[in-house]
Amino acid sequence: MKPPRKLHIKSYGCQMNVYDAQRMMDTLAGEGFVETESADDADLVILNTCHIREKASEKVYSELGRLRLAKDEAARHGRDMRIAVAGCVAQAEGEEIIRRAPTVDVVVGPQSYHHLPELLARAKSEGRALETEFPVEDKFNFLPAPKPDAIRARGISAFVTVQEGCDKFCTFCVVPYTRGAEVSRPVAKIVDDVKRLADNGVREITLIGQNVNAYHGEGPDGRTWPLGKLLHRLAEIDGIARLRYSTSHPRDVEESLITAHRDLDALMPFVHLPVQSGSDRILAAMNRKHTADDYRRVIDRFRTARQDIAFSSDFIVGFPGETEGEFAATLALVMQIGYAAGYSFKYSPRPGTPAADMQETVSAAEMDERLVRLQELIDSQQSAFNKAMIGNTVDVLFERAARNPGQFVGRTAHLQPAHVFASSDIIGQVLPVRIDSLERYSLLGELAGPSARPAQSLPVQPASSSQETLGA
Ligand code: 5AD
Ligand code: SF4
Repeated sequence: MKPPRKLHIKSYGCQMNVYDAQRMMDTLAGEGFVETESADDADLVILNTCHIREKASEKVYSELGRLRLAKDEAARHGRDMRIAVAGCVAQAEGEEIIRRAPTVDVVVGPQSYHHLPELLARAKSEGRALETEFPVEDKFNFLPAPKPDAIRARGISAFVTVQEGCDKFCTFCVVPYTRGAEVSRPVAKIVDDVKRLADNGVREITLIGQNVNAYHGEGPDGRTWPLGKLLHRLAEIDGIARLRYSTSHPRDVEESLITAHRDLDALMPFVHLPVQSGSDRILAAMNRKHTADDYRRVIDRFRTARQDIAFSSDFIVGFPGETEGEFAATLALVMQIGYAAGYSFKYSPRPGTPAADMQETVSAAEMDERLVRLQELIDSQQSAFNKAMIGNTVDVLFERAARNPGQFVGRTAHLQPAHVFASSDIIGQVLPVRIDSLERYSLLGELAGPSARPAQSLPVQPASSSQETLGA
C-alpha cells in the first residue's frame, strides 16, 4: 500500500473558505491524502485565498515566496512538493498567478474544487493546471460527504453551505465576480448533511452563504423554500441544539425569517446584518439598494419578534467621496442601533468593480481617523454588551478544553466565549452558566446547577476572533 500523502491547507478570509477547505480535504482524502499541520512537510500545500480587500489579496504572493523556499528545500531532499492556489484570488487573478509565480502547480477557482484530483494529475503530466471557469454543473453535487471521523475531529459546531454567490453587485465588492451568481442547494441535500453531522456529535450548525438570506432552494414539495422555512425544518433534526446563519443582506429579510426567530428556540438570537454605511447618499453610491431607515426598520422587525436579539454589522469607511458629515451619519446609526459586535474596514478599491473607477477619494489620514473613531464606538458598545452579562445566568454550548487545565470553553447564544472549570463531559452540552467576570472578550463563570464546581482564578485565554465575515 502506498504511504499517505500529506496535505496542508492554509485558509484566509471568510467562513466559506473554512468550509471549502474541509470540502477540499474530504475530496482529497479519497485520493489518499491526510492532513498535516505544517506546510514544510506537506506533499501538497493549498493556499485558500481571499480577494475581498487589497491587503487580503497581497498575502498570497508573500506566502508563495515562502513556499517556494520550502519547495526547493523539499526537492533537495528528493521530495516532490506541489503547490495549489484556490479561493477568490485564484478566481480573479488565475492567469496572473501562473505568470508571476512559477512555483505554483495548480490554480483552482471556488467553483471547481471537485476537479482537484484531475487537476493534480494534469499538473503532473503537463507541468501546470489552471481551472477557473464557472462550470455549468452544480459543484455541490460533486463534493464528497465528510467521513464520520473527520466530522468528529472538527468539533461540535459546523458550517454548512446552503447558498453561494451574490447577485447584489455592491459597487465596492468582488464577490459577485469571484463567487458568481446566487445558487441555492436543495433542502433535501442540506437536511442530509445536517443529519450526518448531528449523528456524529455536531450540536450547532451555522448555515453559510455570501448572501444567505437570499436562499431559495428547492423544497421536498417541489416549491421554493426561503431560509426561514429551511430553518424550521432543520430545527426538527435530533441532536441539533443551535442554529445560526451568516451573512444576511438587509434587503432579503423575509417574514419567514422573522417568524423563525419568533418561533424557534434553536435559532440563536444573534444576527450579522451588514449595513456598510449610515448615509443614504453613500448607500446609493454603493448600490446597496436600501436606505438607513430601511435598515432601522428591518432591525425593528427582528427586535419585535425576539426581544433578546443582538446584532453585528460590517462597515466601510472612506468610500469614494464620503464626507465627514456622511461618516457622522454612520456613527449616528451605530449609536442608534447599539451593536454587540462590528467589523469596520477602510475602503479598498478592487480591480474590476465600479467603485474602483470613482474619482473622488478620501485621504489615507482621514480614513485612518474615521476607522479609529468607528472602532472605538463599536468596541465600547461591545464592552457594554459583554459587561451586561455579569451576574446573569446564560446558556453556554461547550465546545472544547481551554488552554488552562481543567477549564472548558463554549459560546453563549450571542457567540461570546465563556469559560468555566468543569469536567470534560460538558463538551457538547448546553448548560446554564452564572457569569462572574469579563476578561477582554471572554466571559468567566461557573456552572449553575447541581453539577457545578467552584470557580478557580486562572487567566482566561480569550478565543481569537480573526475570522473574516462573509459577503452581504
Ligand atoms: N473595501 C473595504 N471593505 C470591503 N468589504 C467588501 N469589499 C470591500 C472593499 N472593497 C467589506 C464589507 C463586507 C465585508 C465582508 O468586507 O464590509 O461586508
Ligand atoms: Fe453581495 Fe455582500 Fe458583496 Fe454586496 S457586499 S456584492 S451583498 S457579497
